[in-house]
Amino acid sequence: MKILVYGSLNIDHVYKMDHFVRPGETISSKELQLFCGGKGLNQSIAFARSGAETWHAGAVGLHDGQMLLNMLEQAGVHTELIEKKECPSGHAIIQTTPEGENGILLYGGANQTITRQEVDAALSCFAEGDFLVLQNEISQIPYIMEKAHEKGMKIVLNPSPMDEKIFQMPLSYTDFLILNELEGAAMTGISHRDSEKILDKLMERFPDTQIVLTLGKAGSVYGYKDKICRQPVYPVKAVDTTAAGDTFTGYFMGSMIGGTEVEEALKIASMASAIAVSRKGAAPSIPILSQVQGKIANLKE
Ligand code: RIB
Repeated sequence: MKILVYGSLNIDHVYKMDHFVRPGETISSKELQLFCGGKGLNQSIAFARSGAETWHAGAVGLHDGQMLLNMLEQAGVHTELIEKKECPSGHAIIQTTPEGENGILLYGGANQTITRQEVDAALSCFAEGDFLVLQNEISQIPYIMEKAHEKGMKIVLNPSPMDEKIFQMPLSYTDFLILNELEGAAMTGISHRDSEKILDKLMERFPDTQIVLTLGKAGSVYGYKDKICRQPVYPVKAVDTTAAGDTFTGYFMGSMIGGTEVEEALKIASMASAIAVSRKGAAPSIPILSQVQGKIANLKE
């Protein structure tokens, strides 16, 4: 059984700010750093660091994408299904505040040039029972889902960033839906403050989908059939929350696919994500499995 993350690869330009830029305002940043990111790349790295053999498909710019490929390869992710295009790679402009919050502006670049022929070629390497992991930062997602479903692949969707394209996706094909409370609110029309109702509604609408709702400081909750599991967060000093959700998704799914019970997978994902929040940057903040296990073992002592 193989894991394919078909998703975005971005160069993140991270600006350290006192506060987010307001309309009409010009302010200087205190620092600029470049990191590898993109929800797809971050999730591939989290999968690989959780111990899962992972393939990444997507697209980067021919002239600026090498750092993204290097980052994936160093983490042990297979990159042969990533196209190199005559256009810039995707990038993100990220503002971070002293409280560790972030605001992200995206430019799709190569991520938005994926064609149906490329999808067919990438998916030809996978078969029934293999896992496909998607977010919402590349082109052709409804087509990718249709073709993967035809093959009998298991589909994991992290509907992030949330926009109208999510509603054009065949959502009932998903085996796992991993989303935060704001995304859950947008999908159900229920206030993001009422996470219980959001989960109930999603479970009712997608009865064959395992749902994980992440709730920021309130932790996370898993629901499927008659099983509900809750997991609190591990408190840390937030340095940069970028990629916390991606780390959670990669570690949760990597653990589940590896045969870990839901309760333990939530715990591992939650600790991995807490470690990511305590570090700067997207992909570089994602811990390796032994660091996650070490922190969990310390809690038990
Ligand atoms: O989830 C964090 C990611 O969102 C960043 O790395 C940025 O590239 C955007 O895709």
